[in-house]
Amino acid sequence: MSVVRGLAHAFGGAPCHRHMPLSKQRSAEDVGLSQAKEKGPVIAVDGPAASGKGTIARALARHFGLPHMDTGLLYRAVALNLWRWGGDPSSQFEALRACDELGFDPADPDLRSEPVSKLASLISAYPAVRAALLKRQQDFASQAGGAVLDGRDIGTVIAPRAEVKLFVTATPEVRAERRLKELLGCGMNAHYEDVLADIRARDARDSGREVAPLTLAADAILVDTSELGPDQAVAEAVRLAEQRLEEARVR
Ligand code: CDP
Repeated sequence: MSVVRGLAHAFGGAPCHRHMPLSKQRSAEDVGLSQAKEKGPVIAVDGPAASGKGTIARALARHFGLPHMDTGLLYRAVALNLWRWGGDPSSQFEALRACDELGFDPADPDLRSEPVSKLASLISAYPAVRAALLKRQQDFASQAGGAVLDGRDIGTVIAPRAEVKLFVTATPEVRAERRLKELLGCGMNAHYEDVLADIRARDARDSGREVAPLTLAADAILVDTSELGPDQAVAEAVRLAEQRLEEARVR
């Protein structure tokens, strides 16, 4: 049934565009078609720490004119709450309490601090914390115009029906070098060996946890950025996303 016929039925009347002038019929069909197309695409970008997924997700959002959610910030905000209260990170119950009234300023530098990063990695393994943050992420992913989300479990748990799924990765050594540069750039004191050990520990926690582990969804495209600069990585991601969306259109 066409969208116009469907609408006519929904309002209890017979399809009436037969009696309209041709120009009006076209515009009625156009309205119907644009309504049918209104649901925008969901783009899921997953990957380990410092893989470049944030840069890629922001660029994809700009390119396709979609809203973007960095889901890591939610876990960081919970960690920051817990840290400020002096809560016990080994208690799932206290971590869950830190999910209450989760207002935060994404520009708050404390969100990106080392203690908070470490805490975020710990508390994100708690099933109760993940469950508390689930609806917020799913609501964002299901908005009518489409969305880009980046994290660890977007393509597997949050938006398993996403039209585009990218899994962005790079070797631990390359990711450690990137993170080191970032930290030194912020005036922080850091050493390559420590940063590499931290990246490896986070990888193990992300991939080894029981709930929503970091894993490549069966229909995700792997983007290895080990040998790509930021511009090249973004160009490759845009190309792959456009290709996937085109395939979805012709299917
Ligand atoms: O920037 P980086 O990749 O180090 O971290 P992030 O994406 O800001 O995420 C912060 C922490 O939250 C990570 O240690 C992840 O373990 C966790 N996280 C998660 O478990 N699930 C997500 N969807 C996003 C982040």
